[in-house]
Amino acid sequence: MFIRVDSWVNSPSMKSIKKQILELKETRGAVIIAHNYQLDEVQAIADFTGDSLELSRKAATLLNEVVVFCGVHFMAETAAILSPEKTILIPDPDAGCPMADMVTAEKVRQLKAEYPGAKVVCYVNSPVEVKAESDICCTSSNAVAVCKSLGDSKIIFVPDRNLGSFVAEQLGKEFVLYNGFCPTHERIRDTDVLELKEEHPGALVLAHPECSKPVRDLADELLSTGQMCRFAQQSDHQEFIIATELGINYRLRNENPGKTFYPVNPDRAVCPNMKKITLEKVLWSLQDMKYRVTVPGEIAGRAVGSIERMLKI
Ligand code: 13P
Ligand code: SF4
Repeated sequence: MFIRVDSWVNSPSMKSIKKQILELKETRGAVIIAHNYQLDEVQAIADFTGDSLELSRKAATLLNEVVVFCGVHFMAETAAILSPEKTILIPDPDAGCPMADMVTAEKVRQLKAEYPGAKVVCYVNSPVEVKAESDICCTSSNAVAVCKSLGDSKIIFVPDRNLGSFVAEQLGKEFVLYNGFCPTHERIRDTDVLELKEEHPGALVLAHPECSKPVRDLADELLSTGQMCRFAQQSDHQEFIIATELGINYRLRNENPGKTFYPVNPDRAVCPNMKKITLEKVLWSLQDMKYRVTVPGEIAGRAVGSIERMLKI
């Protein structure tokens, strides 16, 4: 169960932490970027919030030399690969992604040997060594376009079985799917979506493609977190059932004060790794310039190709 204590977030001690962060950010010439699943107070202090693709693009184009990356490790690592000249800091080096940990370079090499001639598409939620073994990378917002760009080639998709099968369905072709998954998204149940649909028959269901097939089948739209934010703003609908990590509701509610958002399984759809980044850790990160994310040149050199090919799409 995830219980928020909002009185503490607005307490004098937290106000002092926020003030120190803003001052230090100026001194260091730093920028704070945060993923849409970060704690509300971390998103509130960030200069930019976005999905994985938006944050990688942002980190690569920013002029600031110091970037405090509030997200999970593979995201900060992608930023470090794209901008080796910048100092990329992650406030908690243990903020990992269990899905990314489910795949290894060795597993990808085995699949390539089993399916010669197939192209390997890796979800950005993967270790750098896997990106180095892959033909092209993708995120949830561009996975369909990336796979489409490979024409008739057979596709090995790693590591997310849910995003992979969603893309395969969209393109009407069979993929070789790896069996990885996001534990947070697989905790979202179709029965809870159905219950909310009954309670709010006028609401549109927006789900992340990392959700399981029964949940995806109930969705009106399958979208990355950034696409969800844009869709909610542009839609004429007033009510939305949100099937993804809880953190995104902060941004959805802030950007759409007149609309109503119903999170599915708010006590279970919480990514414990995203929640490891706290305001205190952001402050310590700026104070001590820690924890710097670097990727050794040789492996970064092999991984950058798959990321840059994706960014061109
Ligand atoms: P987005 O790219 O849609 O923000 O998703 C990232 C992620 O980790 C989803 O679990
Ligand atoms: Fe990884 Fe899932 Fe957390 Fe995203 S929500 S960072 S895929 S564990």
